[in-house]
Amino acid sequence: MSAVKDSRIIDKINSLGFDIDRMPKHIAVIMDGNGRWAKKQGFFTRIKGHENGVTALRELTTSTAELGIEYLTVYAFSTENWNRPKTEVKALMNLLVGALKDELPVLQKNGIRLNAIGNLTTLPQKAFKELHEVMNATKNNNHLVLTLALSYSSKTEILHAAQKIAMDVKQGKLQPEEVDEGTFEKHLFTHNLPDPDLLIRTSGEFRISNFLLWQIAYAELHFSDTLWPDFTGKDLYAAIQDYQQRERRFGKTSEQLNK
Ligand code: FPP
Repeated sequence: MSAVKDSRIIDKINSLGFDIDRMPKHIAVIMDGNGRWAKKQGFFTRIKGHENGVTALRELTTSTAELGIEYLTVYAFSTENWNRPKTEVKALMNLLVGALKDELPVLQKNGIRLNAIGNLTTLPQKAFKELHEVMNATKNNNHLVLTLALSYSSKTEILHAAQKIAMDVKQGKLQPEEVDEGTFEKHLFTHNLPDPDLLIRTSGEFRISNFLLWQIAYAELHFSDTLWPDFTGKDLYAAIQDYQQRERRFGKTSEQLNK
């Protein structure tokens, strides 16, 4: 992925008053509040919130790409979400299929590569197939990697990594003392992604909800009161502004960093 930013991106970053050297490379988002948004709007069904959530996701993807941010990862469906009412799960899966079909031209036009993490084989066949078609069609795009976390559980991801490593040790391919962070990361769904720099959660909730537990070890956290369907470029800019005010010390002291 190229770190070179074109002049439109530089102009956009400057026009917003951001420090170009301190832009996050990878933003992760827990999109929360669709149900509450639908209720607040007087809709009888939560699905309306999810439908408008798709629109907000489209807007976020565009705003992120305009800033030259290279990776965007969104929590679209957790393994725990399978326990929601059947009608809501079905509607979410239909929405996913529809969005994948509709968005392909937009992804191509904007050089966005679609990626997915999670236990994808548990998705309905139609969703699994559409997802792989879009991932395959966009695989050579290199402007932004949009990763959908689908049927995702971070604890399961970590357990699977531990199982695979244990198997390699059992088969003599690896010595226990050779198991380090790098070995572990290679076995996570996110092995081809850098760790998020910034994690945003919407709707005024302060939880991580089993999302990227390993990967966010040093991410900056931003909690927004905005319900997901109302989230716009302005909310993204507020999160980046907040991020740029943080001092990322990675365990070091301020003095060490400023030397
Ligand atoms: C959380 O809001 C949102 C979800 C569980 C789904 C997120 C999905 C989208 C934004 C639409 C895109 C979807 C796909 C499948 C691409 P909530 O329903 O938990 O809201 P609440 O906390 O107000 O009830």
